Amino acid sequence: MDDMLNTQGHVRLGSSAGQPLTRRDGILKVTGAAPYAADARPEGVLHAVTLAAGIARGRVARLNTAAAEAHPGVVKVYTPANTPPLALSPDEKIHPFVWRMEVLQDDRVRYAGQPIAMVVAETLEAATEAARLLAPDYEAEPHRVTLDDAEPFDTETLAFGRPANMTKGDLATARATSARHVTTQVETSAQYHNAMEPHAITAQWVGDRLEIDTPNQAIGLSKQTFAAFLGIAPEQILLRSPFIGGGFGSKAILYGAQLLTILAARDLDRPVKLALRRDQVYGPTGHRAPTRQTLRIDMDDMGRITALDHDTITLTSSFDEFLESASNASHSLYAAPVLRTTHHGRRADVGTPGPMRAPGEAPGSAALEIAMDEAARAAGLDPLDFRLLNHADTDPSSGMSFSSKALRECYAEAAGRFGWAGRPQEPRQMREGRLLKGWGMGTAQFPCPMFQAAAHATLRADGSAVVETSAADMGQGAWTALAQIAADGLGIDIDRVEFRSGHSDLPDAGVAGGSGHTATAGTALFNAGADAVRQLADLATQDPASPLFGAGNAGVTARSGRLWRNDDDRSEAYEDILARAGLDLIRGEGTGAREGEPTHAMFSHGAVFAEVLVDPDLGQVRVSRLIGAFAAGRIINPALARSQLLGGMIWGIGMALQEEALHDIRSGRFVNNDLAGYHVPVTADAPMVEAITVHEDDPFVNALGVKGVGEIGVTGTVGAIGNAVWHATGVRPGRFPIHPETLI
Ligand code: MOS
Repeated sequence: MDDMLNTQGHVRLGSSAGQPLTRRDGILKVTGAAPYAADARPEGVLHAVTLAAGIARGRVARLNTAAAEAHPGVVKVYTPANTPPLALSPDEKIHPFVWRMEVLQDDRVRYAGQPIAMVVAETLEAATEAARLLAPDYEAEPHRVTLDDAEPFDTETLAFGRPANMTKGDLATARATSARHVTTQVETSAQYHNAMEPHAITAQWVGDRLEIDTPNQAIGLSKQTFAAFLGIAPEQILLRSPFIGGGFGSKAILYGAQLLTILAARDLDRPVKLALRRDQVYGPTGHRAPTRQTLRIDMDDMGRITALDHDTITLTSSFDEFLESASNASHSLYAAPVLRTTHHGRRADVGTPGPMRAPGEAPGSAALEIAMDEAARAAGLDPLDFRLLNHADTDPSSGMSFSSKALRECYAEAAGRFGWAGRPQEPRQMREGRLLKGWGMGTAQFPCPMFQAAAHATLRADGSAVVETSAADMGQGAWTALAQIAADGLGIDIDRVEFRSGHSDLPDAGVAGGSGHTATAGTALFNAGADAVRQLADLATQDPASPLFGAGNAGVTARSGRLWRNDDDRSEAYEDILARAGLDLIRGEGTGAREGEPTHAMFSHGAVFAEVLVDPDLGQVRVSRLIGAFAAGRIINPALARSQLLGGMIWGIGMALQEEALHDIRSGRFVNNDLAGYHVPVTADAPMVEAITVHEDDPFVNALGVKGVGEIGVTGTVGAIGNAVWHATGVRPGRFPIHPETLI
């Protein structure tokens, strides 16, 4: 409706968007009533347990299947000898979100933790014990599990087909004529998503209809992928994923054990449930790959960047292609007239890495912000002044204007709140008792993609509505924020909106990832609501019995469950319009996507300031204060957005100081595949974290003006902490997480 467009070119939202509403699903969650996939208990359900490979490369020579099968309660033991084939090769890539499906089609071991057998039993205990009884013998082959010994390979493309290399301008000339330069090397470690809810699936065949309960960030795509590998029609699959106990990218990609569970359910004609243990998540469900990044920043004698060169070496598996796009973090952040970004892949005997919260950007930003701090020091400038001097007013890689960019406001807001002014330039100048104190900063940036979504919005005779799209709530608050947008599209109070979601029979909401879900699914929901209202307005304005008669569709506004004339104060309730027309309901449809080629560079931005305390004797680092200010377009729900930003920043603490998945180099196995050994920040590690949002009006990013907040909090933060550690100690961290022994 034209009248819903404001002068800025994006839609005017109503009274729900912008409210800090608490989660609509909160009571279900705190009372334990929210159904997660592993809670499903269909009649007669069997329990599956996978056996994980204990070597990193070779083949399984022998499995004691007789012992496992003889265990009471065991129904069947699946090995490569008896697992039914799939409709497609396990290596088939039907779209860019497919990794190799490890489904026991051969006896090869390609990484430690790879499923090499699966036991199905009447109880979880029986399946667990029988899996142990399989006691595999291996023919091991020499393996490689680290960046140092991995095998280089040539690649032109990164994750999701992005180009691996980009050059703009004449690097040789820029280097030759620059006044000074710094070269920085930073390594980042392999990390695991460690969602609170480990991966799980319950599968049940009802005739030729397959019902799946599994946490999933991309319901429509996953339904298609399952169907293709099973050789059935997508319409035969019902996938339910109403609640996801954390995804962070790991639940956007399917893994073979899900298909194995489905195959077993078909083979045994019983429902089968598989719930991975924490240690079983390590290997087959994706991780953040380690990187080794080298940056060279050239400057003129004023400290203006003349060239930025960012190279990344990163690992992938021996059989898939996913490469972390870390160097791309340098594409659009600082005003470098000459720019080169390169990536080099190496293959190792590890599970395929995958997208993990701020994929590419998180490690890339960590290295870039360390390099920027070193460059500021070389230029003799305060780190914030240096970044302001090199602020990009247009996107250096594309030359396009930014759709909006309130980064200067973020710097000012966060620096002011932090008290950055007066920071000593030299390191080791501040103390708190016997602890060294340091301040550091980093810039945050994340792109604003949109995917494809569809939605329905149905107004009912009583003036309430049901809205439908298969969105994914992995804890970020989609159940609430999307309902707020839908309510405003419909012009009714959110309490009158029933939201159906997380279910594959609903219109597809696209991928919940890339920080684009609110923008994409929200646009579809808003448009569906507006479509229903448009039909309602057509009815009323053409009906002589309505007070709206003759106003014209563009002459009315929807608000509080009524249509209002714009030219006087008369209005009519939705239920009255429907009743007079003799209708039980009106159904609107809408889609969300970005049309055409982008005309602007679109990013969320932010600034993160960190204070650390370092024990000079033990090297132990504590983040004592962390303050971030972010500009992310329109904020639909300030409470949920703050929660997302805080969560991202706390992930940054983990990446900077704690999180690291370690392989035993000799065995190739993980040594810390549990939450006792793999440390994530707890409350004591994040005593004071503050996330502020800065007003930003974006007329170009999409009709809602929404940019997304899911991932940007990680960026900026890791570098800010690393820079604060330098300021405290005078030691430049060359590696994340920072190890205490490197500081003493
Ligand atoms: Mo994400 S790594 O886009 O879930």
